[in-house]
Amino acid sequence: MDARNSKPDSIPARFGLKADFVIDVGSGVSSIYFAKADKLLALADPEHSVIVADSLTRAFVPACYPDDRILTVPKGEDAKSPEALIRLWEGFQELGLGRDWTVVGIGGGSVSDLAGFAASTWMRGVNFGFVPTTLLAMVDASVGGKNGINLCGKKNQVGSIAQPGFVLIDTSMLASLGPQELASGMAEALKHGILDGESHLCAIERAAASMDAKNLEAVIRLSVGLKASIVQNDEKESGQRMLLNLGHTFGHALESASSLGHGLCIAVGLACAARLALDYGADGMVSQRICSILTSLGLPNSIDSLVALRAKQGTCTRATLIQKAASALYADKKRNADNINFIMPYAAGDVRIESVAISRLAQFLERAP
Ligand SMILES: NC(=O)c1ccc[n+]([C@@H]2O[C@H](COP(=O)([O-])OP(=O)(O)OC[C@H]3O[C@@H](n4cnc5c(N)ncnc54)[C@H](O)[C@@H]3O)[C@@H](O)[C@H]2O)c1
Repeated sequence: MDARNSKPDSIPARFGLKADFVIDVGSGVSSIYFAKADKLLALADPEHSVIVADSLTRAFVPACYPDDRILTVPKGEDAKSPEALIRLWEGFQELGLGRDWTVVGIGGGSVSDLAGFAASTWMRGVNFGFVPTTLLAMVDASVGGKNGINLCGKKNQVGSIAQPGFVLIDTSMLASLGPQELASGMAEALKHGILDGESHLCAIERAAASMDAKNLEAVIRLSVGLKASIVQNDEKESGQRMLLNLGHTFGHALESASSLGHGLCIAVGLACAARLALDYGADGMVSQRICSILTSLGLPNSIDSLVALRAKQGTCTRATLIQKAASALYADKKRNADNINFIMPYAAGDVRIESVAISRLAQFLERAP
């Protein structure tokens, strides 16, 4: 799958950006720019924009946006709650946000998921754009148009598919992220590498060995290129886009069960998917490579390692975690009767959609390391 079809257009020139900073521009897919965040001024007029940020990412808001136009939402997963959504809509109301305004989400995936959902439902949809500030949001969450919140402990239960007008990626923002946050972002980037094939996976291995600016930027460009091209062909997830759920069936179940960070759970979800794929005749190399990349990133690659991480935050036994994760599998919104379309990694660049009984997935969790 070759996704890197850069299509420079006149938009970046108009904003004074170099044309080759545009990764992809097309109907149904956001315009993605690599530039310094001060370019935001050209994309979102401060007079008619509302900024959504958390208490930490407020620091990234350019000074030309007045304080009273910045709506602060809770940090992390707490942003993706019905209460935070209602407070945001109320903020829009107080500011008189009209149809010709733009909502800009500046933050990680939690901020962009919430801001995109609030904007895409406000007055049946106003323009919005993102300035992703975490690696995970740069490689994945800010691209593709899935917006949403959690409900009653279930991930992304309420949401919309609506494309941001722009995604402005400023890699200098990564400097303040700790090693664990960077590694979490690499888990989603690894998913893209497995989907895309050998050369992309090699770029992930290089970045896992040395997360310097050059390797990280290469990974971000490959990730957004791949994701944008998949979404452009299948925005509503009726076919190929399902592949982007690689690692997420187990990953989301483990996230609901453990309340640990998204990237950590996706890491274990990828390792579990690769181990399950062995039962279906997959090449053992892919499973070994995934586990070794996760290890060099300092990420967990087994349920046992996730249980150990969770236990640091309070009592957690493997049995309880597995039981909660199995319940989450049965409640998966992608469930089709007793089965789930599971994304099975056979080899780098050979990933297939298989209908698997949920009971088989739950049994696998019982025996997985
Ligand atoms: N919509 C999608 O397609 C999609 C794809 C992948 C993940 N997601 C969602 O993304 C969410 C996870 O997002 P995330 O991992 O970006 O974390 P996050 O948004 O939950 O942020 C985690 C923490 O990092 C802090 N932070 C943000 N930027 C920082 C920076 N530059 N320096 C230091 N700290 C910073 C935040 O303040 C927060 O405390 C999950 O809810 C997941 O479901 C969505």
